[in-house]
Amino acid sequence: VRSLEAYSVPHPTGIEVKLDANENPFPLPSEVRHELARHLAEVELNRYPPSDGGELRELLAAECGVARDSIVFGNGSDEIIHLLCATFAEPRPRAAVASVLFPTPSFAVFRLAAIANGSEPIEVPLLSDFSVDRSAFERELEVRQPSLVFLARPNNPTGTLPTLSWVAELAARYPEVLFISDEAYGDYGAESALPLAARLHNLLIMRTLSKIGLAGLRIGYLCAAPEICREVDKVRGPYNIGSLNLCAAIWLLRNHRHGLRRRCQQVVAERERMAAALAAMSGVELFPSAANFLLLRIGKPGDRRATQVWQRLCQRGILVRCFDAPGPLEGCLRVTIGTTAENERFLEAMAQPDR
Ligand SMILES: Cc1ncc(COP(=O)(O)O)c(C=O)c1O
Repeated sequence: VRSLEAYSVPHPTGIEVKLDANENPFPLPSEVRHELARHLAEVELNRYPPSDGGELRELLAAECGVARDSIVFGNGSDEIIHLLCATFAEPRPRAAVASVLFPTPSFAVFRLAAIANGSEPIEVPLLSDFSVDRSAFERELEVRQPSLVFLARPNNPTGTLPTLSWVAELAARYPEVLFISDEAYGDYGAESALPLAARLHNLLIMRTLSKIGLAGLRIGYLCAAPEICREVDKVRGPYNIGSLNLCAAIWLLRNHRHGLRRRCQQVVAERERMAAALAAMSGVELFPSAANFLLLRIGKPGDRRATQVWQRLCQRGILVRCFDAPGPLEGCLRVTIGTTAENERFLEAMAQPDR
């Protein structure tokens, strides 16, 4: 742990357009917020929350078409990643420690959780177009027999999408390995692996309410076979989701699911518009994305153009994520899709001759 760096994101001052954290840009409408506040006022804060997630379990089980004992809740899917690494950290015969396989670059918490829970991370570099290097990945699977394989579908920060048929093929070929389809951005158009999980019990699906406009609630969930959920549940802290968060999630999903979904569709439409505008800019290389963000590359290796652009965007009150350091993401910026007005501001700043 001493050798790790804590997960952190820069927060420059004077930011008016926040496009750095892959959040959904739409706040809840004011009348919904006021009604929600009245509802939250009834929560009995002297009592512990229901340990099993209460009615949220029924709501999400119905939405996913799974049994109620096929769900585990986490304080964000971040916690689910840690719980999986903690639960399935048993080394294979003749191995000193368990291993966890995933592509790189990918979501930083896969690596942190593997190490923090005593496992060895095995990171397979993505190809230059940020698709998975299947032969290298399959070689590691064959040789190392990891306990867990994390595949973010779509991947963060690249937006690329490992195909469902490949994931299913691997899960069928390696029944002793648990494959996790991390579908944090699943509401932005990618096909879910959920229907496959019914016949492949080593295929687990991870989802979250964070990216659909409820990031502040910190509610993520695992959909998996009951025998897997039972084990993860032994490791989970009994009251890991607070009463206010549970109550808000239940009320919002019961009464405003349609509105939340519509906002994701709006983001998809904006993504397509942004992608077309960025693709038409000279000196910008754009990667295809199935998520609520776009990854772009600016400049030549080592020229730090992307860092300069990031700084100028900050000066104009626009925050995006900068990955411009030596490595596979050199020259890359990641921009979260915002509201139409926010996106316009970003595109305008990007279109200036000095960017
Ligand atoms: C691929 C991926 N998985 C999981 C998460 C964590 O989401 P949560 O907010 O549910 O912890 C993120 C957050 O950015 C992500 O990009």
